[in-house]
Amino acid sequence: MLKADGLNQYYGGSHILRGVSLEARLGEVTVILGRNGVGKTTLLKSLMGVVPVKTGSVTLDGTDITRDVPYERVRQGMGYVPQGREIFGRLTVEENLRMGLAYKPGRTPIPAELFELFPILKQFMHRRGGDLSGGQQQQLAIARALAAGPKLLILDEPTEGIQPSIIKDIGRVIRMLADRKTMAIILVEQYYDFAAELADQYLVMERGEVIQRGRGADMEAEGVRQLMSI
Ligand SMILES: Nc1ncnc2c1ncn2[C@@H]1O[C@H](COP(=O)(O)OP(=O)(O)OP(=O)(O)O)[C@@H](O)[C@H]1O
Ligand SMILES: [Mg+2]
Repeated sequence: MLKADGLNQYYGGSHILRGVSLEARLGEVTVILGRNGVGKTTLLKSLMGVVPVKTGSVTLDGTDITRDVPYERVRQGMGYVPQGREIFGRLTVEENLRMGLAYKPGRTPIPAELFELFPILKQFMHRRGGDLSGGQQQQLAIARALAAGPKLLILDEPTEGIQPSIIKDIGRVIRMLADRKTMAIILVEQYYDFAAELADQYLVMERGEVIQRGRGADMEAEGVRQLMSI
């Protein structure tokens, strides 16, 4: 579904991404692991076009999107859940969800399915985003990204600062979405157990490079837990 080839990214004089390549397949969760500051978010922003890549290419479902701006990528089927959620605190849950439909023609209704995935959002439909708990905001951010029916969903550390019961719920939703085989999922995580449970495929980053990759089922045997804890 998504293919990135030889991505290089710089902030000022620092070389942040060094020739990163990856492929995310339909029906699979591709997990990207790595400690603080190794370039995970920069990689996701490069995939979304939030920061334009210096060299390398990104293709979505066979179409070259390397130079497309973010909203064009959303329109072509990419959903993005940024680190820290970035929901609109002064807008209601319903309005936040509508933002996820902004690029759809006319007045497309909010898919009822989102409320099956995250029942709390139905209950809190008219509350302001800023009044939700961290975990509820994360669910809202995921639902907003799903509203337009993406074929690729990108999540940046969805478990960060969230209570265990909601982490479980989010994990269940991610697995279910992948198992439908209509979507590819890229998940950036530092929480090893959550990542290992969901990963069909994994990549480990260090200083802007992918230093190890493999199948999710082999993560423990291939020593990824140790890599993350050093
Ligand atoms: N806008 C920016 N301008 C300059 N440097 C930046 C900018 N954003 C990030 N960096 C630097 O780029 C490097 C990679 O940052 P990035 O946010 O991609 O890491 P990360 O792996 O997502 O970290 P974390 O796990 O803490 O979220 C870090 O050294 C960071 O300080
Ligand atoms: Mg980050």
